[in-house]
Amino acid sequence: MKKNLQAIRGMNDILPNEISVWQHVENILREVLLNYGYQEIRTPIVESTELFVRTIGEVTDIVEKEMYTFLDRNGESLTLRPEGTASCVRAGIEHGLLHNQIQRFWYQGAMFRHERPQKGRYRQFHQCGIEVFGLKGPDIDIEILLLAARLWRRLGISNKVTLQINTLGNSACRARYREALVTYFEENLNLLDVDSERRLHTNPLRILDSKNPAMQDLIACAPKLLDFLDEESQAHFSGLRYLLDVAQVAYTINPRLVRGLDYYGLTVFEWVTTELGSQGAICAGGHYDGLVEELGGQATPAIGFAIGLERLVALVSQVSEFENNPDAYLVMLGDEALAAGLVLAENLRNAQPQLKLIMNCNGGNFGQQLKRADKIGARLALIIGEDEVKTKTVTVKYLREDRQQENMSWEKVVNERIKELYLL
Ligand code: HAM
Repeated sequence: MKKNLQAIRGMNDILPNEISVWQHVENILREVLLNYGYQEIRTPIVESTELFVRTIGEVTDIVEKEMYTFLDRNGESLTLRPEGTASCVRAGIEHGLLHNQIQRFWYQGAMFRHERPQKGRYRQFHQCGIEVFGLKGPDIDIEILLLAARLWRRLGISNKVTLQINTLGNSACRARYREALVTYFEENLNLLDVDSERRLHTNPLRILDSKNPAMQDLIACAPKLLDFLDEESQAHFSGLRYLLDVAQVAYTINPRLVRGLDYYGLTVFEWVTTELGSQGAICAGGHYDGLVEELGGQATPAIGFAIGLERLVALVSQVSEFENNPDAYLVMLGDEALAAGLVLAENLRNAQPQLKLIMNCNGGNFGQQLKRADKIGARLALIIGEDEVKTKTVTVKYLREDRQQENMSWEKVVNERIKELYLL
């Protein structure tokens, strides 16, 4: 027997019965982003591998073990994008959109990371992200946090997410902190696990992010970056905290929040939930003021975040139900009814573009057609039989309400708003 082909592990189909909540979330995202003046940017799914290595950092989980990298037919190393920031910066520099300009971009699309799949963690997942260029903050920091907070309100999940913030300081104080951290961990070399030992001289900040229970005490006693901040970094952070208070956004400071990508400095943050098991980060981001220059552009401050849409959709599904059933199903009995019905259906669609109307196809008797209408959850059956053709009428049968059926003229059906028929 032939084996059925299946989707790749960790890469999911989103089926029609799941799509309503996705569309609801995507519509609200678009509306809010437009409302804050963000412009959509679409970049390719595949980029040169070097872009991600230089942006995300050589000694990060993503670059070390999670990228989908392959040689194309010309022998060039390409990678399926694991995130969207790198591509936005690349596109911004390439098209001259960043130098001396203020840009507010947003994007949405599939991202790819070869992680171990589990609930909320996939190999193909979707992000909606924003990237702002040309603004130092902290006013822009509060803007994007308020934008996120508005999204949660609009989606009815405000009480399920909390904000954690931290600062990584500017590059000067990060360098000093890094030294202190390396000294501290070197003094405790025997307590480091293999991963942390490997990171000690390449990316010591990431050791703070270790989930290994055996290392937690060691990490808890490590020097704190907050004690190494210089005046500029301190002012930025306290400025943001002041604005968060003014805007009444609740937050906690998480000194261990270092993020898994190397490009960050100053503010970093995550919106987290406890409702989805271990994969609790819904939205994450921060400043990356050095990246544009590092990739060959003029020095440009930048900040952004990305929302994991699978996680957001899972949360929204907990609080609301979505249905996408048709309003009406057109039942047509016989050739003359079919001829009359399809003209009526087109007229109805002209007059009522919001109406979800399904026309019976493939014939069938009355019982069979009604069964199809019922199976797809239609609210109404619009029935045209021989009598209705003669009298130029439709019989409206209510499939979800205990209500007497009605007969009405074609004209009335077209001009009456069908949705209002069953809302009355
Ligand atoms: P990130 O923290 O790697 O940041 O990802 C952002 C969000 O994407 C996560 O908080 C999570 O919701 C979702 N996510 C990440 N990996 C997976 C996965 N394997 N399965 C499902 N969801 C996932 C970034 O990607 C940065 N580019 C964010 C950013 C934009 N920073 C500045 N601008």
